[in-house]
Amino acid sequence: MSGTEKSGQARIVAADSAGAIDEAAKILRAGGLVAFPTETVYGLGANALDDRAVARIFAAKERPSFNPLIVHVHDADEAAGLAVMDDRARAVAAAFWPGPLALVLPRREDCPLSALCSAGLPTLALRVPAHKAARQLLQAAGVPVAAPSANRSGHLSPTTPFHVQESLGAAVDMILAGGPCAVGLESTVLDLSGPVPLILRPGALTPEDIEPFLQQRVVYDSGDQQKPRSPGQLLRHYAPGIPLRLNAVDLEPGEALLAFGSDRFMGVRGGGAARDLPEDSHRNLSESGDLVEAAANLFRMLHELDRPAHRAIAVMNIPDKGMGRAINDRLRKAEAGSRSK
Ligand code: TXA
Ligand code: MG
Repeated sequence: MSGTEKSGQARIVAADSAGAIDEAAKILRAGGLVAFPTETVYGLGANALDDRAVARIFAAKERPSFNPLIVHVHDADEAAGLAVMDDRARAVAAAFWPGPLALVLPRREDCPLSALCSAGLPTLALRVPAHKAARQLLQAAGVPVAAPSANRSGHLSPTTPFHVQESLGAAVDMILAGGPCAVGLESTVLDLSGPVPLILRPGALTPEDIEPFLQQRVVYDSGDQQKPRSPGQLLRHYAPGIPLRLNAVDLEPGEALLAFGSDRFMGVRGGGAARDLPEDSHRNLSESGDLVEAAANLFRMLHELDRPAHRAIAVMNIPDKGMGRAINDRLRKAEAGSRSK
């Protein structure tokens, strides 16, 4: 079965329609690919025990094979059968699972997962998602599910089923639809495989959220770009097709605006105001300046503004605190990625 060779579009099926979860679980067990909603972004799922199925994820995403995948499980006990959960891992799992936290842990000697999931590393990234449809799917499939974001490598992460369809086309066997993603940014990746807890990818959960459960400092791993610990730290990762201009205080003619907070006084160089832009050239991540709302809107709005009709997307400054850190991390990657296109 090689989904990438099929033509046409993948079927979108509402996760709460009759028989949808069972059908998706059957496809997963048979080695197929199912895109499904999580609270962070849509995932491209495959049976993590099945080498061929996991290999199909890399093919569908056109993802470099050195990039390891997050494996989704139903609960912490299932995770403990795959990776070594020390007291720290148990504590954060109890506090944040199900939820937007992926833990990097040492693989157990007897771990039955496809080695492709860890891309040759002695560690594994595990997550228990909170979205109802994801939980039902994991339960029905009865196997751990490897699931990176359901987009082609280097493209924007999908927060609606339509993004998945647009990016992956027929490379996926079925798309389970469960509405837009509530968080809208990928999970926080916390590496507990060494003595110092490291955040490899910022997300909804911050060190301040996590530290009380570890009684240990949690450190942002800024990532050595020559030799990233987590390949997700590669700058060229999330990229729109047109340039991005960050921390914009005004607009160049022809630019689209991605605003944050009030944009009432934003001007266009040479004359004009941002509020006079056509509807499809103007989005606001959060008019009230709410970072959580902004994160949930980020990828969808970038998708909507990413059209050749615009010379660039000008993005207003986002405060670098709380969820803002994760938003700025994704924006910097998108900016670097779009520059290299
Ligand atoms: O929110 C999410 O986590 C989404 C949804 C679908 O659950 N999934 C997701 O997976 O973002 P993916 O595969 O796109 O991102 C995996 C991230 C990458 O940055 C990868 O490099 C890192 O986790 N990662 C995976 N396994 C790792 C490992 N063993 N060591 C270090 N980093 C790892
Ligand atoms: Mg991704």
